Amino acid sequence: MQKATAVTSPLLHFFCLVIISCRILLMHVVAAQNSSSIPVNVGVVLDLDTKFGKIGLSCINMALSDFYATHASYRTRLVLNPRDSKDVVGAAAAALDLIKNVQVQAIIGPQTSMQANFVINLGNKSQVPIISFSATSPSLTSLRSPYFFRATQNDSSQVKAISAIVEAFGWREAVPIYIDNEFGEGIIPYLTNALQEINAHVPYRSVIPSSASDDQISEELYKLMTMQTRVFIVHMPPSLGTRLFAIAKEVGMMSEGYAWIVTDGMTNLWILTEPPTIDSMQGVLGVRTYVPRTNELEKFRLRWKRKFQQENPTIINAELNIFGKWAYDATFALAMAIENVSMGNFSFNKTNVSNSGTDLESFGVSRNGPHLIQALSSTKVRGLTGDINFVNGQLQSSVFQIVNVNGNGERRVGFWTPKSGLVKELNSAKRSTNSTHEPNLGPIIWPGDTTSPPRGWEIPTNGKKLRIGVPVKSGYTQFINVTWDPNSRTATSVIGYCIDVFKAVVATMPYVVPYEFIPFATLDGKSAGTYNDLIFQVYNGTYDAVVGDTTIVANRSRYVDFTLPYTESGVSMIVPIRDNRRKNAWVFLKPLTWDLWVTSACFFFFIGFVVWVLEHRINEDFRGPPSYQAGTSFWFSFSTMVFAHRERVVSNLARFVVIIWCFVVLILTQSYTASLTSLLTVQQLQPTVTDIQELLKKGEKVGFKKGSFVEGILKGLTFPKSQLIEYQTLEELHDLFTKGSANGGISATLDEIPYMKLFLAKYCDQYTLVEPKFRTDGFGFAFPRGSPLVADVSRAILNVTQGEKMNQIEEAWFKKESSCSDTNTLVSHNSLGVESFWGLFLIAGVTSISALIIFAAMFLYEQRHVLFRFCSETPFWRRILFLSRIFDQRDLSSHTFKRSELGDKSRNDGVSIGVAGDSPNTNCPQSPSSYSNQTELGFVFLADQGRATENGDLTPSAATSPEIFPSSGRHPIELANTANSPREQLE
Ligand SMILES: *[C@@H]1O[C@H](CO)[C@@H](O)[C@H](O)[C@H]1NC(C)=O
Ligand SMILES: *[C@@H]1O[C@H](CO)[C@@H](O)[C@H](O)[C@H]1NC(C)=O
Repeated sequence: MQKATAVTSPLLHFFCLVIISCRILLMHVVAAQNSSSIPVNVGVVLDLDTKFGKIGLSCINMALSDFYATHASYRTRLVLNPRDSKDVVGAAAAALDLIKNVQVQAIIGPQTSMQANFVINLGNKSQVPIISFSATSPSLTSLRSPYFFRATQNDSSQVKAISAIVEAFGWREAVPIYIDNEFGEGIIPYLTNALQEINAHVPYRSVIPSSASDDQISEELYKLMTMQTRVFIVHMPPSLGTRLFAIAKEVGMMSEGYAWIVTDGMTNLWILTEPPTIDSMQGVLGVRTYVPRTNELEKFRLRWKRKFQQENPTIINAELNIFGKWAYDATFALAMAIENVSMGNFSFNKTNVSNSGTDLESFGVSRNGPHLIQALSSTKVRGLTGDINFVNGQLQSSVFQIVNVNGNGERRVGFWTPKSGLVKELNSAKRSTNSTHEPNLGPIIWPGDTTSPPRGWEIPTNGKKLRIGVPVKSGYTQFINVTWDPNSRTATSVIGYCIDVFKAVVATMPYVVPYEFIPFATLDGKSAGTYNDLIFQVYNGTYDAVVGDTTIVANRSRYVDFTLPYTESGVSMIVPIRDNRRKNAWVFLKPLTWDLWVTSACFFFFIGFVVWVLEHRINEDFRGPPSYQAGTSFWFSFSTMVFAHRERVVSNLARFVVIIWCFVVLILTQSYTASLTSLLTVQQLQPTVTDIQELLKKGEKVGFKKGSFVEGILKGLTFPKSQLIEYQTLEELHDLFTKGSANGGISATLDEIPYMKLFLAKYCDQYTLVEPKFRTDGFGFAFPRGSPLVADVSRAILNVTQGEKMNQIEEAWFKKESSCSDTNTLVSHNSLGVESFWGLFLIAGVTSISALIIFAAMFLYEQRHVLFRFCSETPFWRRILFLSRIFDQRDLSSHTFKRSELGDKSRNDGVSIGVAGDSPNTNCPQSPSSYSNQTELGFVFLADQGRATENGDLTPSAATSPEIFPSSGRHPIELANTANSPREQLE
């Protein structure tokens, strides 16, 4: 044994020597290689006691070895100087030490946003780039340091994804719950803005101190429970977040109806394998940065895991997180950038550097800083998370994944991309276009294990049911009727129109609203106050709503929010009506206005005259003594009124006039008949008063319903108190009207239209509404201000009022006692005026006048020799006189006379002879007497000369008289005519 040992020991020594020398040789080779490259100091500031810090550092280390393995030829080599930093001060001290004493070219880290703030300022002053892969607070951007590079997504880049979820589920309110530090607060302005953009309201912000105890957290959560919002956005690190969810589960906030969204602050880091955590977070939605899974990434993960396990055997279950990947990528980019500026010298400008180790005031300035930030900004490398490219020191925004905690892990339910919003699949670029109600996400299991999305708010009640105040009324019980049990001092039933409408409305709402009616009553069942008092009870929280005939008016809406009205709106005046049919002796005059009467009468006279003119010369009916002629003419004209004119009209012109006139008369009489009929049958009812000012002037009394706001309107109209009388029931109102204003009653009342309709339904034939004078908005339900129920109830009211249901309810409550037809509206009657008929009169007038003109033209043409052939010295008036005399005579050339006097040829011949003999060569007569040398007079004149004559009864004196009118007073020709009228001859 001894010998053997002696032999082996020199051999062993030799081997050892060989191995050692080999190792020394190897070290020399490595040293030689290192010496050819330039070492560049880079600081790393991380909390190396935490798993997060350890993962980060190991990723940075792996990044460097991977980088130089693939880029062995690069001349620079990063030398890491890791520093541990527990808190803000530690990070600041570490950074200062690195900058001042190590003169690092860049610092990777620090870990948190709070630490980053000061370190960034240090870096800015010393021109040392700070590259953080985990400080996500957007507020860091506001430092505006060109030396700060963020190799991670800032928190504000996800707010759009969160607001898209809120919008997709139609939530109108959300409460952020966040940690009370720079990390927590940084996101809030961006989140609030994003929610505002989609019209979601942030009614409250819940701040949880990072050091909060469980009691403090549960106190805060209980507070949130009493509020109506049920959508919470949690933004905090996982350490606090998991505690929050554990307590939320305890207090019952992880149940149905609640929605929880967590930001990537938790989602990126959570490890959902620990049972208590995952149990308390069932149903939570999370937003996280999405990195596509690739083979390289998977290989790296395994490699990293093995290495990390070796280095940190005490840490189990370490998983590579997104920040580790970013740390890797940031290191990669930094190494690349430093290689690119290797021309510079990696030293510090050391003027004014104090020797004290941690003097904050004076330290060197990196000479290479400006070059390095330029290089970093232009560096583009392909990293684990994709292309790394800093724009303004920020990574470009990426895709977010939406996950849903469910069962033993998380389910991926969709993505959010800046371009297409929420999508189920990343590659199907289809945006959720069709409807906002169907979010384009995979199925989500919400808290409470339900698949139906939470409504987002809870009816804010103090108890389980909505406590609805209802008014207690003594009149108008159709609207609301509370039956009071005096023994138990409770309401046994609440019924009425308003209640039915409310029930119908609630039934059409998309969710169940439990409610109970609580009468606003004193202990003995009397009304406990006015409607304004009742409304105020909602404001001070006694009731959750008011249902009743509460009118929407401005001063009430300062305390409550009203729904849309469910009744007709407006305040109107109601007055008794008077039936003045048959009581008026002159009702027959009513159908036409007086000017139409006058115009018609004038036209009758005018037409009589026209017919006389046209007929006088040729129609025996229109001849005779002047009074007879006048009588006949007007008799003729007025008898057309009943189409009873007997006289024959022989002239075509007259016939034309009469036909047109008969047409006008027809229309006039028909219109008169129609108007009179409607006057006597339809317009039976007339309001006694039509204007409220009239009442005020006459000092008549006006009624108003007790407790109604109408009293205010009346007072606003300056009605004195003595003129106002209040009533409570419909019967009372009717009594007041019956008494009349003079006997302590009223002449009119003002009230809302729904009440007045009720009144009219009962006493329909005695009263009428006169047009609405005042706008109000009808009856609405009242809810506390800002109640989310208002919008939904209003929508439901619209559905009900537009549907058949409303008619049924109205029918049931208002129409059953009405025995009268719906004649509320007053048919206004207007007499017919000239303006309706002037067209007709125009036609008749134009016809008649043109007939006259044509007649006159023809007549003058026939008698043109009288006008023009006489001597010029004859005065004009004499000629006219002469013409009128001719006009007054029979036109013997007319066929009417010819036919009837066929046998009497001589007379006609005489005329023709006389006329023929005188015209047209007659010279100017010497004396005025020769005027009579025309037509009938003409042959008289000739007869004197000894020519043939037939009328022996002409007195010579008349014939020879120089005057045209004989002194006998009667026209000689007329005498002749009467003696020899064709009729007499025929008889
Ligand atoms: C260095 O310090 C001196 C005084 O201590 C000051 O006058 C000088 O401006 C400083 N130089 C720089 C570059 O800060
Ligand atoms: C956050 O990052 C996005 C890109 O991801 C950038 O557009 C935005 O300006 C950044 N906001 C802040 C406040 O840094």
